Amino acid sequence: MGYRVAVVGATGAVGREILKTLAEREFPVDDIVALASPRSAGREISFGDRTLKVRNLETFDFKGWDIGLFSPGGEVSAKYAPIAAKAGCVVIDNTSHFRMDPDVPLVVPEVNPDALKRMKRNIIANPNCSTIQMVVALKPLHDLFTLKRVVVSTYQAVSGAGKDGMDELFSQTRGSFVTDPPKIEQFQKQIAFNCIPQIDRFMDDGATKEEWKMAVETRKILDPDVSVIATCVRVPVFIGHSEAVVAEFAEPVDLARAREVLREAEGVILRDEREDGGYVTPIECVGEDATYVSRLRVDPTVPNGLAFWCVSDNLRKGAALNAVQIAETMIALDLLPRHG
Ligand code: A2P
Repeated sequence: MGYRVAVVGATGAVGREILKTLAEREFPVDDIVALASPRSAGREISFGDRTLKVRNLETFDFKGWDIGLFSPGGEVSAKYAPIAAKAGCVVIDNTSHFRMDPDVPLVVPEVNPDALKRMKRNIIANPNCSTIQMVVALKPLHDLFTLKRVVVSTYQAVSGAGKDGMDELFSQTRGSFVTDPPKIEQFQKQIAFNCIPQIDRFMDDGATKEEWKMAVETRKILDPDVSVIATCVRVPVFIGHSEAVVAEFAEPVDLARAREVLREAEGVILRDEREDGGYVTPIECVGEDATYVSRLRVDPTVPNGLAFWCVSDNLRKGAALNAVQIAETMIALDLLPRHG
């Protein structure tokens, strides 16, 4: 017997990937509903070899539904996730709204699955896409050498800003060949042929909210004693986030041991050949589940430092796959009650 699953924000970039991931992984689904705004009600959307008719979230009753996989944007989740949770549906929310709530576990299954046992509000938060791939790569190194500080620069794909962000890169790029003036709506500046060092709004200390998220979420998931300074940059890539990570550890690092644990770590693929093209770029990770680590080397400027490059599909491990893995882990830990 399977579960009754609601996908909220099903017409969006992450929602579609969630439907695809559920079908590909043969998640035990008894019944599934695709929910979005009233604008999309009645539209058809595919789920494996089936077609689902999109229904209106505003009038949907979550009673009797076991799992809600939410990615409709922060404000919509803020309103509807508690309604679903109160109706007995376990919500796995992909927005940033609940992530730092102490009663809401923030989970990457390869890193902190036991946090799921501390769920109090029927809501689990899926971390930020940039945080997920970084902690998946850092966890085995942290277990070995005890992580103290991270300096990270990100190169983030436009799909992190949803389907409208992808459309904007496409239309600005196409427009440049027919000399249309670029229309700037989703990003702060032109994104085609450019890099923008701002993701989300500015905080009082000059960091952006995306950079703040990487710091606080890493501490909540991995270790409260780790400090993180991030510079988050939007780049003209459709799918796949990249990160240049420099990590300082408490204990002496051994490169061969680091390679060994990364090679064995769950969710990580080490591809690091120290030759032309012997590393993974974002276009190569599209549709893949792993976090790819390349360019691993010692940082000789600090006592116990390692530097590396990592890429991952931000819509998959950065969002949809991690959410589905959370649901699978809950089933494995016997934490997901069925209503049927
Ligand atoms: P819709 O397509 O009907 O607007 P993305 O992040 O790729 O832009 O996707 C956002 C997702 O959230 C879409 O599925 C979108 O549905 C959905 N959404 C946005 N606003 C609402 C709302 N008020 N109620 C329900 N779903 C919403």
